[in-house]
Amino acid sequence: MNEIKILYPQEIIQEKIEELAQKLNKFYGNEEIYAICVLKGAVMFTVDLVKHLNMPVKMEFIRLSSYNGGTTTSGKVNAVDISLPDLNGKNVLIIEDIVDTGLTAKFLIDFLNCNFHTKTTKFCSLLDKKSARTADIEPDYYCFEADDKFLVGYGLDYDGYYRNLKCIGYIENPE
Ligand code: IMP
Ligand code: MG
Repeated sequence: MNEIKILYPQEIIQEKIEELAQKLNKFYGNEEIYAICVLKGAVMFTVDLVKHLNMPVKMEFIRLSSYNGGTTTSGKVNAVDISLPDLNGKNVLIIEDIVDTGLTAKFLIDFLNCNFHTKTTKFCSLLDKKSARTADIEPDYYCFEADDKFLVGYGLDYDGYYRNLKCIGYIENPE
């Protein structure tokens, strides 16, 4: 396995998630939300975030992919499984691991707008790689602004590995 240089330790990630949850609790009050986890990357972030939410929450999981297996995006978003309940009139919170080019976020927001008239649609991401953005999109909420490095851990993978790490880092000397 490669050596991982830690950028965001476990405690800092959890602190930021609690801060974000407080903002969401304030914004939604007691209104029910649909928390939509974008698999696979956002799985850790989603399960930790929803534990701190106080309103009624329904969890949904969709699966998209845009990666070729390594560290490069194909530039095309592939909807592996995007089956969702009727979201008309609902508060929808999309939960992503990282916004990079923004193509995935744009695809999802366009998909929701085309198929539903939601009450609100908000997009939150654990990480925001602003410098890599090509699509005209910004997350409504994010925990960390990240450099344009390929990150792994806490849901983020390299070729399927490292999702189980408690921290987020980058591969120092890739093999
Ligand atoms: P985007 O469509 O380019 O914004 O990228 C979206 C998806 O690519 C994210 O949801 C991640 O799953 C994946 N991704 C982007 N950057 C990284 C990274 O640094 N490490 C691991 N996965 C990444
Ligand atoms: Mg993702």
